[in-house]
Order: sequence, then C-alpha cells, then structure tokens
Amino acid sequence: MALRKIREMGDEVLTKRCKEVTAMTPRTRILIDDMIDTMYEANGVGLAASQVGVLKRIFVIDTTGEDLRVFINPEIVTMDGEQTGYEGCLSVPGKSGVVTRANHVIVKALDENMKPFELEATELLARAIQHENDHLDGHVYVEKVEGDLVNNSDLHPQEEE
Ligand code: NI
Repeated sequence: MALRKIREMGDEVLTKRCKEVTAMTPRTRILIDDMIDTMYEANGVGLAASQVGVLKRIFVIDTTGEDLRVFINPEIVTMDGEQTGYEGCLSVPGKSGVVTRANHVIVKALDENMKPFELEATELLARAIQHENDHLDGHVYVEKVEGDLVNNSDLHPQEEE
C-alpha cells in the first residue's frame, strides 16, 4: 500500500488538462493502486490522477464502500435531469458547497485492464462521475458552487473532521 500526496487547491496541476492513457503499463497499474489506497485513506468517494499530481485521464470512485470502479479515458455520453446538493473534494479539505449537476449520466470508459465498459448512473454516483471528470479537464467543483463554501463542521456538527 502506498499513499500519495493529495494536491490542494492553488496547486497548478489541478488546472491542467490530463492526457489520454494509451496503454496499461506497470507504472500506471501502480498509480491506480496508489490512487485507490489514497482515496480510502482520506475517506473520499472519488479521486482523479491529477489530484496526486499525475496528468493522466484516470479516476477512481467508490460511493458506497463496496463499489470500487476505475475509469480510464472516460467520456460522458449522456447527461440529463438535475440534482442540487452539497459536494466536497479531497483537494479542498474540510469544505463543501452546493453544486447543480445532471442527475443521470451514461459514461463510457476503460477499466483497469483497458477493457471498455459503459455505465449508467444516477444521484451520488452520477455526481461523482461528473466531479471527477471535471478534474481531468482541469476544473474543480468550487468553480460551479452556488453561494459560498461552508465548513464541513458546520454541516455535520456532531462529526469530527
Ligand atoms: Ni475533487
């Protein structure tokens, strides 16, 4: 298990467009394993490669704790409906903000074996896919926040952050 340093807002790497993955290499496999470890260690539901400083079009998502998926070269082919709710990001620690996103998406991507798959998602998973996909184009959710960022400790006063 290897953890990588999560880059935080203000780090230029988070504003860059990530590049397509052309082949699975030992190096990329290790990157993906490290991203998964790093996401779980930080109690996140998603993490994009650029958040650990690597400009490849890869993100990992697990919104339930038992639904880990790896997305390589993802492409959101359908977006419809609407959901508005709080969103956070491991690169913006301790904060949340309200973002309106599509409530339903269909995404095409490659899995960790470079095998194509298509996934239909709604609600939180759809939100996570859109959020992580934005990272691959150099965008962070705070650009889309309606109103102000709030402290997570104000949203969930019982929970220690
Ligand atoms: Ni994020």
